[in-house]
Amino acid sequence: MCGIFGYAGYRDAAPVLVEGLKKLEYRGYDSYGIATLDTHLDIHKKQGKISETEGSFPKLRGTLGISHTRWATHGVPNDVNAHPHTDCTHRIAVVHNGVIENYFELRKDLTAQGHTFLSETDTEVIAHLIESHYQDDLYTAVIEALRHLEGSYALLVLAENEHRIIAARNKSPLVLGIGDGEMFAASDVAPLLDYTERVIVMEDDDQAIITPQGIRVLRAGNAVDRPVERVTWHADEIKRGGFAHFMLKEIYEQPGVFFETFRAARDENTLAIIRDSPQVTAIACGSSFHAALLMKYFLEEYCRKPVRVEFASEFKYYTPPVSGVALAVSQSGETADTIAALRKAKQYNCPTVAVTNVQGSTISRAADKTIYMRAGPEMSVAATKSFIAQVAVFLQIANMLTDGKLNQALLHAHQAIEETLLVDLADAVALCKKAENLFYIGRGAFYPVAMEGALKMKEISYIHAEAYAAGELKHGPFALLTDITPVVAICPGGITRGVMISNIKEVKARKAPVIALGESQDTELRDIVDCFIPIRSKGPIPQVLSATVILQLLAYHTARELGCDLDMPRILAMSVTVE
Ligand code: F6R
Repeated sequence: MCGIFGYAGYRDAAPVLVEGLKKLEYRGYDSYGIATLDTHLDIHKKQGKISETEGSFPKLRGTLGISHTRWATHGVPNDVNAHPHTDCTHRIAVVHNGVIENYFELRKDLTAQGHTFLSETDTEVIAHLIESHYQDDLYTAVIEALRHLEGSYALLVLAENEHRIIAARNKSPLVLGIGDGEMFAASDVAPLLDYTERVIVMEDDDQAIITPQGIRVLRAGNAVDRPVERVTWHADEIKRGGFAHFMLKEIYEQPGVFFETFRAARDENTLAIIRDSPQVTAIACGSSFHAALLMKYFLEEYCRKPVRVEFASEFKYYTPPVSGVALAVSQSGETADTIAALRKAKQYNCPTVAVTNVQGSTISRAADKTIYMRAGPEMSVAATKSFIAQVAVFLQIANMLTDGKLNQALLHAHQAIEETLLVDLADAVALCKKAENLFYIGRGAFYPVAMEGALKMKEISYIHAEAYAAGELKHGPFALLTDITPVVAICPGGITRGVMISNIKEVKARKAPVIALGESQDTELRDIVDCFIPIRSKGPIPQVLSATVILQLLAYHTARELGCDLDMPRILAMSVTVE
């Protein structure tokens, strides 16, 4: 959570930082702040979103600066708690992504030494610690301060007397960008793409000294070599390109993303690890967890390979028996719970494979092997194309494990996504937008699809939505059904259709309105439900993809009708880097 961005170059730093922060806003957007350095520090920080400051940003002087967009952990979102934070003299400024776990004790000690704190944040202790060690060299003071910190941090620091930025990383992501006479540091590559494609990914315990002329990476004072990598993403990919929202753009990108990812995920070496494993253990959170549940269906149904899927946040706190490969599934590759679970899996000496979208991310570095999704940058907080990309990876694995038996089913899979994009959802949206509660039901592989659909609906429209395996509804949740509680039922063809129809009739008998996704020609289903959404594709795999897209669009259009902030839902942030 939180995004940080630093610039050292020849341009006015503030406009560069403002534009960069907008590209990091998906990581947190309750407040923002910038410090620039000319002869002295200029600081502007405020509650609210940087993207809503159009034209009203004050002039800050200097060609060197650091900036921050916040997702509050310690202290409410307000102007004072916004970063940068400064020391008592206001001559040292710090921006920070992460959590300082021992900040309370540090704050007590520093207060006893006479330091005055202005904010409720954990970050402010860093500024005061640096102040207490500062003599005439900022880098030395920073590494002294770091010795006292427990927890996670990506830090950028400025001091009034020194024309350079000091960066430091431990357990929170930080990349350095190398331009021509200008250098950058950021939580991810998005703000760098307009300037350079050459980056260095910092490792835990690295620090960097950044000047307009160059970057030196160090560890406790000693220079280290880090490879310069080329970013494969392009600046155009992080623009809305005529779409009203990133979320809609990303939904529309899905046919291509599925196709590209499926093709690129063909990796014999990684497959051999999975093939040789008696069992696959997947660890993930949120939408990635739902995608992993779909993998369970594919691998168990088509390949007879046992799969267990664990919430990363649970896996790290108990000691399950694990045999075989552990798969860490994460769009960002920076989710703190998934990183911790992956490290735990390594303690079992399991081979580990990362499935991630982000080159050089912590999870890809920690795992033995990585399968990259080809989703491109996902700017909307609600995951859409990254979910489809994960499904494409898992379908490729299933297809390879069955020596191509799914080829036929997969041949037109991306078309199943494409032809779903223009589905008419007006009636379904009209029902959903009036509801305070929604249920989603499905069976087999359509149960994780229902879970993902319900998650999309609640996170962007703020309507309470719960998914159940269709057979479970009558074991308790039935008590909540009323004539104003719509039930979204995924009821395609296949062996579960008959029993799904029975479940839908049971729901109808409780007067709850039903929105059903079913095969286009299913007139029996069409006749018994309140709202029918046709799935045009055939066969379970294309239908899983079609149903996923329909439910993404249902959430999108409902939230849009309700006037919600689609790309930046309240309170949420994209990359959950705190446990
Ligand atoms: C939902 C969503 C989250 C993420 C979850 C895991 O739309 O985006 O539930 O799926 O925070 O994130 P990653 O995949 O980056 O580990």
